[in-house]
Amino acid sequence: MLFEPIALRELTLENRVVVSPMQTYSAAQDGAPTAWHIGHLARFALGGAGLVMVEATAVSPEGRSTEADLGIWTDLQESAFRNLVESVHACGAPVGLQIQHAGRKASTTAPWQGFESVTPPPGQAVIGPTDIGVPGGHVPQPILEKDMDRLIEAYRNAALRADRAGFDLIEIHMAHGYLLHSFLSPLANNRRDQYGGTLENRMRFPLRVVEAVRQAWPAEKPLSCRLSCVDGIGIGWSIEESQVLASALLSAGVDVIDCSSGGMVLPRKDMLVPRGPGFQVPFAKALKSTTGATVMAVGGITEANHANDILLRGDADLVAIGREMLVNPNWAVSAANQLYASHSWSRWPVPFGWWLARRARPH
Ligand SMILES: Cc1cc2nc3c(=O)[nH]c(=O)nc-3n(C[C@H](O)[C@H](O)[C@H](O)COP(=O)(O)O)c2cc1C
Repeated sequence: MLFEPIALRELTLENRVVVSPMQTYSAAQDGAPTAWHIGHLARFALGGAGLVMVEATAVSPEGRSTEADLGIWTDLQESAFRNLVESVHACGAPVGLQIQHAGRKASTTAPWQGFESVTPPPGQAVIGPTDIGVPGGHVPQPILEKDMDRLIEAYRNAALRADRAGFDLIEIHMAHGYLLHSFLSPLANNRRDQYGGTLENRMRFPLRVVEAVRQAWPAEKPLSCRLSCVDGIGIGWSIEESQVLASALLSAGVDVIDCSSGGMVLPRKDMLVPRGPGFQVPFAKALKSTTGATVMAVGGITEANHANDILLRGDADLVAIGREMLVNPNWAVSAANQLYASHSWSRWPVPFGWWLARRARPH
């Protein structure tokens, strides 16, 4: 099942192994990808992944978590991404872009520098649905209704640029406490206007973004949304609300729901989603069974047989692999070796597989 192709609109993935988006905080000052990003991502394409996702990429300057985040709001960034897309394609995989606005989690240092809040440059205020900030972080400026059009336009332009750069898929980052998730969750959104309060109101701004992106993004190309299916502390955003949102996303033309969790509050001891193998698979299963959506499972999936079983059980349609890909960029072709035994070398790039198949033969 892991190596069964899957069609998403006009894009057919050769297998169901997706490289999960992972921020590397390694962009040049101008937010453009460099030769380093190409090397990093092309390894996964050579390693047989069905789809390589580029890390969270900001739609506007103030939407970056750090100054080294990737961005897609200038011509220079767009043309650097075109180069990256061509390189990943040449190495054998389609490539998707995760588009992002960090919202109230913007303007920090990198994880290895402690995620410290830093003063944003002039004109790049940290914004959120309300002034409820992340503990110890910035106090966000509440977004006024008139600012929403500018933000939606930034997402729309990012989609247009991603298309021109040749990306095969876009994923809208609606998870992990960033801008769109913070509108959804009552833990960050206590607005009193039509963008806060009821579930319908909290979904309104994220859905406006999705509609604008879907309209700008070509009809033949698939659109994914990553959700935090629950906030994970017993209050806040729930799986039942995710089910309602997933239905609305499907109606808005979203093709894949990528099922993550958390990020609204800092990790703490009473988190209700303990980490372990496949710990978020139940969320993918819940959304798939109630809405019929094509879903992606992610989190703690490291073993080929486990990934295959998730698909065989019908809990998900795609599996995203994050950190284990950093350990082994050849994860997908290695999985083929495990699942298919002698026939697997044909899934490796021909210039490797031809030799490796001969090396594997008994003398
Ligand atoms: C270094 C690193 C960077 C990440 N950056 C992103 C990101 O840009 N966007 C996102 O949605 N998730 C991000 N995540 C979460 C991963 O995509 C993935 O969901 C998570 O690591 C769980 O999967 P895993 O257990 O296979 O690593 C990141 C995770 C790591 C370890």
